Amino acid sequence: MPDHRLPDHLQTATVLTAEERASIFADVPHSPGAPKPDPILVVDNVSRTFGGLKAVDVAHLEIQRGCITGLIGPNGAGKTTLFNLLTGFDRPDSGTWSMDGHSLGRMYPHQVARRGVVRTFQLTKALSKLTVLDNVRLGATGQRGERIFNTLLPWTWKAQERAVTERANELLARFKLDTKSDDLAGSLSGGQRKLLEMARALMTEPTVVMLDEPMAGVNPALTQSLLGHIKSLRDEGMTVVFVEHDMDVIRDISDWVVVMAQGSVIAESTPGHLSSNNAVVDAYLGSHHDQALEFDDEGNPVGATAVLAEALENAEAETLETGGDLSEPDITELRRENP
Ligand SMILES: Nc1ncnc2c1ncn2[C@@H]1O[C@H](COP(=O)(O)OP(=O)(O)OP(=O)(O)O)[C@@H](O)[C@H]1O
Ligand SMILES: [Mg+2]
Repeated sequence: MPDHRLPDHLQTATVLTAEERASIFADVPHSPGAPKPDPILVVDNVSRTFGGLKAVDVAHLEIQRGCITGLIGPNGAGKTTLFNLLTGFDRPDSGTWSMDGHSLGRMYPHQVARRGVVRTFQLTKALSKLTVLDNVRLGATGQRGERIFNTLLPWTWKAQERAVTERANELLARFKLDTKSDDLAGSLSGGQRKLLEMARALMTEPTVVMLDEPMAGVNPALTQSLLGHIKSLRDEGMTVVFVEHDMDVIRDISDWVVVMAQGSVIAESTPGHLSSNNAVVDAYLGSHHDQALEFDDEGNPVGATAVLAEALENAEAETLETGGDLSEPDITELRRENP
């Protein structure tokens, strides 16, 4: 039976118990860029500008080995761009980052994957005209397995191919997609495609798995099992970085949470302390929990709604006084001032 496992020097799986994970973070300061006891990824001064916009500007970030790090932040905070940079899908303007002390900069995605770092996409990239099985098998060729295929002699290739198919089938069974293996990927639901993408990423037996909103578009009936799958990656010793907007999910699954806003890391904390962190509330929770408007029996605004209405009236008056027009009142700006 051919062995398609990683060479020993790339096997850095660390299986930690819940108690061990809690104790790891007990002494980590709740501040941006906080050092971790055993970081697997270290990011320094990584920046990326689009036109005049600084999409990513991360001074320092350490990702703890063997844990799930939740990465949160409002839309446009730079989470996906940071993933793109770290996995070789985009090039930064500046900065360095490393895995276990080895630089991952200036590499192509397949080279990063070869080092054991794989990612999934916010918008899934299943090849709809290929079967589900072939999509997963491609995980081996597109990423670390490429080297294996290139160095094989023709007569060992068939055995290798069998091993790849065997692993693909195991992964499909794990994600309960085995009954669909001969279907075209295009026939899967959005949630099933997310699972397919995860199966494909796992073909290379990665050390670090970066998941960009794996729950987005997934049927609520599937989210619990998807969460279970993600926890099981960690429980097998992988390091998981996980982008998600749903705070309940983040609290449930993360050992540590990193908060980005406007390209930078603005806060880090245990999930339990998120809501007591002012920076998080200001930048993220506040803007994402729009208050329902409240009116009394006569239709007059009350409470926070009254404050908002008054602010709107004042803004309208001010606009008219300064000779402006009212075609586009900037409500988001007002909400920010009157949360
Ligand atoms: N290829 C690009 N060209 C121009 N601007 C871009 C590009 N990619 C991202 N941006 C901009 O960079 C900023 C960060 O975007 P990014 O997609 O990284 O945010 P995000 O945190 O992943 O947001 P979301 O939660 O909506 O997925 C945004 O203002 C976005 O419009
Ligand atoms: Mg994104």
